[in-house]
Amino acid sequence: MHTNEHGPYEPKEEQVLHFEPQYKLVKCKVNGVPVAKMVDMRASLTDFLRNEFSLTSVKKGCEVGECGACAVLIDGISFNSCIYMAIWAEGKDIWTTEGITLKDGSLSIVQQAFVDEAAVQCGFCTPGFIVSATEIIARGKYYTIEELRKELANHMCRCTGYENILLAVQKANNITNGFELEPEHKVNRINEDNKEDFM
Ligand code: FES
Ligand code: FES
Repeated sequence: MHTNEHGPYEPKEEQVLHFEPQYKLVKCKVNGVPVAKMVDMRASLTDFLRNEFSLTSVKKGCEVGECGACAVLIDGISFNSCIYMAIWAEGKDIWTTEGITLKDGSLSIVQQAFVDEAAVQCGFCTPGFIVSATEIIARGKYYTIEELRKELANHMCRCTGYENILLAVQKANNITNGFELEPEHKVNRINEDNKEDFM
């Protein structure tokens, strides 16, 4: 039986002090804008983007890197920002769904494709899907639905269902990279004739 009222693992004073918040200056680009902020060294990139810049498209889902709701582009690659330390953002080029719109704020091809293919219901998973779709589309390569299913396997949607999401990503990829639309793609606002309006 332990007689010490704090138990056998009573922390020493210097250990307690060690848990005081520590901050570090981080300079990076967020949605194309150079920023410099003091960051709590324990903060995730999710919290950094949401709390410092109100970028609430970066969703807090599982917060353990399983669902993809928090995905952002870091130097062109989609990462789960909940398991990426904010201090690692030093010197990086970070994009969220807010920054993936066109310059006048209207929807980009991939965002419009999600609307047209009815690939959104509650919308919680949507920004993360759009971020990863943006990385995939930028590769300039044709993808079948089955290939996209694997590419997007780290994203979870609890309501819409994946078929429409995969169709939306395939359609945005086909339009952006000049591949023919598939018969499954619904008639909608983006097509071969007006796609320039969304670029
Ligand atoms: S919230 Fe980051 S992966 Fe789920
Ligand atoms: S649309 Fe609701 S989680 Fe995907």
